[in-house]
Amino acid sequence: MEGGMTAELGTRVMQAGAAATAEAVRCLGAGGLVAFATETVYGLGADAGNGEAVARLYAAKGRPAFNPLIAHVADAAAARRLARFDAAAERLAAAFWPGPLTLVLPKREDCGLADLALAGLDSVAVRVPAHPAARELLAAFGKPVVAPSANRSGHVSPTSAAHVLADLRGRIDLIVDAGASAVGVESSIVACLGGAPIWLRPGGVARAAIERVLGHPLAAPPADNDAPLAPGMLASHYAPKARLRLDAENPRAGEALLAFGPALPKDASRAAVMLNLSSRGDLVEAAANLFSHLRALDASGAASIAVMKVPHEGLGEAINDRLARAAAPRGSTR
Ligand code: TXA
Ligand code: MG
Repeated sequence: MEGGMTAELGTRVMQAGAAATAEAVRCLGAGGLVAFATETVYGLGADAGNGEAVARLYAAKGRPAFNPLIAHVADAAAARRLARFDAAAERLAAAFWPGPLTLVLPKREDCGLADLALAGLDSVAVRVPAHPAARELLAAFGKPVVAPSANRSGHVSPTSAAHVLADLRGRIDLIVDAGASAVGVESSIVACLGGAPIWLRPGGVARAAIERVLGHPLAAPPADNDAPLAPGMLASHYAPKARLRLDAENPRAGEALLAFGPALPKDASRAAVMLNLSSRGDLVEAAANLFSHLRALDASGAASIAVMKVPHEGLGEAINDRLARAAAPRGSTR
C-alpha cells in the first residue's frame, strides 16, 4: 500500500485522521468515491444526493442498479430528516445507534436522496455507524453518504483497507485506512414499515438482542414477495472462487480448512492450509475474522474449503448466513 504506486493507479490510501477526513470530504463533495472503515465492514461512500456519483459507485462495484443502498448519517436526528420512524423504529434507534443496525423505513418525500440510490423504492435504509473514523467523516461532510460494502459486486466484503485495494484499486478515488473492522459482518437489517418489524438480514446485532428491546419476536419477510424486501440478498452474494463445503467434520486431502473452536477435526493435518475463526470458540471473534479468513484461504489456491460447523446462536446466525451464501452456486437467488 505504498503511496506513490497507488496514486499512479488512481486510488489514494490515507491513514485515518484530520487530513484524511478533509480529503474525503473534498472528494465526496466533488462526486468522488471514498472507501472508509465502519465497525462492520469497509463501505464505499458517495454523496447520496448526487445521482452521477451514485451511478459511478454502481459502476465501480459492478453492482446491479436495482439493488438499493444504505444511507449513512452521523446521528438519529439526521436519519429523521430522511425517513419516518414509528415507535418500534425509535426504540431500536435509541437502543442500537450508533452501531451495526440498519433500519428500513418509509422515506420522506423531501429526503433529497438520489432516486438511483433507492432503486425506485419508497422506503430507505438508514444507518448510524459507530466507528469513530466513520462518525468523523459523516459529521464533517454533513450530508448522507450512501455506502455499500467496498468490494466488487458478488465478492467477499472487505474488513481492511488492503481488501478494498485488492478489489477496487484504480476504480475509486480514496481509501481511508482505519485498521481492521471490529465486527466483521455487515449490519443487521430490520424494516419498520408500519406493521410488525421485519428481520431482513442477520448481521452485527444478534436477533435476540433486538427482540429483547422490542418485547416481541421479529416477523419473517413475506415469502412470496415479488420484489424482494432486501433485493441485495442474492444467495451467491459473498462468493469466493473456491467451493465451500459446510458443516464439514473432517477436511479431505488438499482442502483448505476453516475451523471453529478449540476441538479440531481428527484429520486437520490433512488440510492444505488451516485458519481458525476463533480457537476459543467465541462467535464475536469469529465474525470479525470471517471475511479475511475466507479471502486468505481462497488466495491459497485450494479448490475447496471445508468449513466446520458454527453454532447458530448470537452472531452465529449472521456467520452461517454469509457462509451459506458463499457456498451457493454462482448467480442463484433465493
Ligand atoms: O454493515 C453494513 O450495512 C455495510 C456498511 C458499509 O455500512 N453496508 C452494506 O451495504 O452492507 P450493502 O449495500 O452491501 O447491503 C445493503 C443491503 C442490501 O441487501 C440491499 O438490498 C438492502 O440493504 N436494502 C437497501 N435499501 C433497502 C430498502 N429500501 N428496502 C429493503 N432492503 C434494502
Ligand atoms: Mg455487500
